Amino acid sequence: MVMGSKEKGDNLLDPVKVGVLGLGTVGGGTVNLLERNRDEITRRAGRPIDVVRAAARHPARPRTCSTENIHLDYDAYAVVDDPSIEIVVELIGGETLAKELILRAIDNGKHVVTANKALIALHGNEIFSRAREKGVTIGFEAAVAGGIPIIKAVREGLVGNRIEWLAGIINGTSNFILTEMLYAGRAFGDVLAEAQRLGYAEADPTFDVEGVDAAHKLTILASIAFGIPLQFDKVFMEGIGQISTDDVAYASELGFRIKHLGICRREGDGIGLRVHPTLLPERQLLANVDGVMNAVMVNADPLGPTLYYGAGAGAEPTASAVVADLVDVVREFTLEPENRVPYLAFQSHSLSDEPVVGMDAVETAYYLRVEAQDEPGVLADITGILSNAGISIEAVIQKQPAPGAETVPVILLTHRVREARMNEACERIEALEAIHGSITRIRVEALL
Ligand code: HSE
Repeated sequence: MVMGSKEKGDNLLDPVKVGVLGLGTVGGGTVNLLERNRDEITRRAGRPIDVVRAAARHPARPRTCSTENIHLDYDAYAVVDDPSIEIVVELIGGETLAKELILRAIDNGKHVVTANKALIALHGNEIFSRAREKGVTIGFEAAVAGGIPIIKAVREGLVGNRIEWLAGIINGTSNFILTEMLYAGRAFGDVLAEAQRLGYAEADPTFDVEGVDAAHKLTILASIAFGIPLQFDKVFMEGIGQISTDDVAYASELGFRIKHLGICRREGDGIGLRVHPTLLPERQLLANVDGVMNAVMVNADPLGPTLYYGAGAGAEPTASAVVADLVDVVREFTLEPENRVPYLAFQSHSLSDEPVVGMDAVETAYYLRVEAQDEPGVLADITGILSNAGISIEAVIQKQPAPGAETVPVILLTHRVREARMNEACERIEALEAIHGSITRIRVEALL
């Protein structure tokens, strides 16, 4: 019998026993939340939910939660092998140990709740397949956009819709950095150090600034939006490292905000999966999501656009998502596996092999910043190359040179063009003698 599948006659009000792997920020928040809202949660789940056992690398360390009723030690395997535990909550992060523990928990017939976006994005296909064989549930709401119930919204709330595209601010650290660059004119490195101090950034902050964290989350969102297998390796990834405070200011002069977006969209021959800095018209709701907040916009037929906004990180928001999954698992105890909500929203035998298209095929408008010698004919050369490539220009600004600078920044906004064509034009512009360095290129989306 699968753990937690109650036989008729069992006492359905027995507390559900939960084991937690990792009792850090989110683990502590989850224990506190289960305690604080215990009555409400029990009324919703139908049974009390008790964390009875936990594993932490340093069990003696002070905790943010009470461990009075929790058997806490360092042995994570003892938690997943404990026959009394019905649900394992994995909050240790990383890929190797977390994967081994989750697969072992599944083999032991336990349901799993995890906040581990990297693990689901990279190994989710294998984990779901094993879980399906064993008839257990895997909850991963906390893996994407923290407390925003975006998995539930897309997987269940939009079940009658065909999703056209989804675009989201899904890395709070990048959003915090871009917001501080805009409103306080602060330099990138400064703000990143603050994001690390405040605990928003990943253990390895290059995951935030290079777009890896957002790509993990987009991989998961794309699968539940389009019913395709998880394909992290196909996501085009660009972080915010190349964005300067000048770019943020120039974009603002042109009526845009720069946001780091994850976008998945039907692109004609397939599905485009990409994360990159993006200029958004400043009137767009998404353009006004600031600080560490996350937001995901979904355009679906017949509903049209909807926007989901909230805290994308932190102990309590993430705990909110973990507890939501715990309650779902408890509610599903009495359901046969084939009647449960499918892990990736679509029935496993109905996943589509629709291809993920390469970036060359994606069409967007562009912001280009070119550093050019201030001499006659340079602007004409640049616009000539764009015009010969059939790329139409929407706006041009030439800024004053900085004191002592050899070059002036020239900023161009183009109309929509295929990425491949823009690549060729940029190569030709960069080859001009009067152009210094590489072009800073930021994609522009109206999200209509
Ligand atoms: N480092 C992540 C972020 C934490 O900044 O959004 C939440 O996944």
